[in-house]
Amino acid sequence: MMSQTSPQEVEYNLKVVRQFSIMTIIWGIVGMTVGVLIAAQLIWPELNFNTPWLTYSRLRPLHTNAVIFAFGTSALFATSYYVVQKTCKVRLFSDNLAAFTFWGWQAVIIAAVITLPMGLTSSKEYAELEWPIDILIAVTWIAYVIVFFGTLVKRKTSHIYVANWFYGAFIITIAVLHISNSMAVPVSFGKSYSIYSGAVDAMMQWWYGHNAVGFLLTAGFLGMMYYFVPKQAERPVYSYRLSVVHFWGLISLYIWAGPHHLHYTALPDWTQNLGMVMSVVLFVPSWGGMINGIMTLSGAWHKLKTDPILRFLIVSLSFYGMSTFEGPMMAIKSVNALSHYTDWTIGHVHSGALGWVAMITIGALYHLIPRLYGQTQIHSLRLVNIHFWLHTIGVVLYIVAMWISGVMQGLMWRAVNTDGTLTYSFVEGVQASYPFWFVRFVGGLFIVAGMLLMAYNCYKTIRAEKQLTATDNAAQSA
Ligand code: HEM
Ligand code: HEM
Repeated sequence: MMSQTSPQEVEYNLKVVRQFSIMTIIWGIVGMTVGVLIAAQLIWPELNFNTPWLTYSRLRPLHTNAVIFAFGTSALFATSYYVVQKTCKVRLFSDNLAAFTFWGWQAVIIAAVITLPMGLTSSKEYAELEWPIDILIAVTWIAYVIVFFGTLVKRKTSHIYVANWFYGAFIITIAVLHISNSMAVPVSFGKSYSIYSGAVDAMMQWWYGHNAVGFLLTAGFLGMMYYFVPKQAERPVYSYRLSVVHFWGLISLYIWAGPHHLHYTALPDWTQNLGMVMSVVLFVPSWGGMINGIMTLSGAWHKLKTDPILRFLIVSLSFYGMSTFEGPMMAIKSVNALSHYTDWTIGHVHSGALGWVAMITIGALYHLIPRLYGQTQIHSLRLVNIHFWLHTIGVVLYIVAMWISGVMQGLMWRAVNTDGTLTYSFVEGVQASYPFWFVRFVGGLFIVAGMLLMAYNCYKTIRAEKQLTATDNAAQSA
């Protein structure tokens, strides 16, 4: 069926897309700055200034919540609302509900920024927020489900573009995960206890935790890839058939892999083995998707030389490939025996988070911001190019330092003397890690400097629209 409305006739709701896009940049700067601060605290602990709110234990979850839920998720809201409208050729299902998701989500973030430094936490990783905030998250998310799927239902196109499949899977799965994992009995306004206990609690938590990675940090951003890579490259997706195989492969495997976070624990052995096998197989659809994204550029590789925005998008896919090769390896029990608890995990996390998630987001925003503000191009491509190098160098410094210190820590912890005693005390392991933590800190500074450049570049792009409108108004009244 052909589109019944020409794209020019559709009045898209760009307001909410603009709001979420701007907040993505702001929260990105905040979350990553907190990342640099905690990286510094690991080297210079006195940087907590003897203040309870500034201790590492409270700022670490603030960092993870700010980068995943404020920066990453705002980017997903912005781009999913944009992509679903453009590819379905209709306005969002409801402007009011969309506005509610924006303000609801910002309220959640502000609540996190206040309660986490106060030490209010459920103590479940990536699900630390207490029950009143959890309820707000659930309500806002259900509104998101309605807006997104409502828009799909009233689409003017016959088929649903593949990016929306990935966004849809992410939105539905996060609703199910959040509601299931957050089930708790409140004992006061700021404290609750999970309804699950023991190994079941751990299993539920990592079913949630792993799929927050799989659906939020992966599937959602793959939706971004399937729209913005072809757009910026001005080429169709390499293979539509591969994208369908990629989708079903990823969705059906990810959901089983959670137990790889619980190797050698009280979890039944068969569950750990199942998680390991599913994680290893997950390598296949992950690389299928990465190849599909990168090969979209075939015949247009020369564009990488001149287009730093495309470079952000394509290099993000190489990091995606790297972390989805490393992840399955780390899921193998004998490898995990070395990597678990060490900086290796932190290196893996950030090659996914800073290499894949942040770079695809930055690339997509450089494409999107000018288009949201009536421009054809970002204010300065030269600044984008500098940002690209600052970010890439920063990420490489970060993850290489963590790989070396991670393997070193693992080897030091397991080293034993001939009489069976440990060769190194824990403190010796910490001392040996300092140089690598310093390199990570420097990498973090590079990355935040790049984000500040981005904020300036986007500000100038937005200002240009305002100046253009002001000149138009003056010309009309003259
Ligand atoms: C300037 C950039 C960043 C710096 C300097 C930074 C630094 C850090 C540090 C120091 C930790 C604690 C490591 C430890 O406990 O040993 C951490 C943890 C973490 N960061 Fe970042 N980070 C940055 C950006 C990001 C981004 C953009 C994301 C996600 C999109 C992210 C996600 C995480 C996660 C999930 C953890 C917890 C890892 C775990 O528990 O295994 N970070 N970060
Ligand atoms: C095929 C894909 C992947 C597999 C099989 C995988 C596997 C793993 C494994 C085995 C661990 C270590 C668990 C432990 O020892 O505690 C881990 C940790 C982690 N991975 Fe991945 N990974 C994959 C992709 C990714 C991607 C793309 C990202 C980010 C965008 C990511 C984010 C994380 C995070 C945040 C953690 C730390 C969780 C925590 O302990 O706090 N992973 N992953």
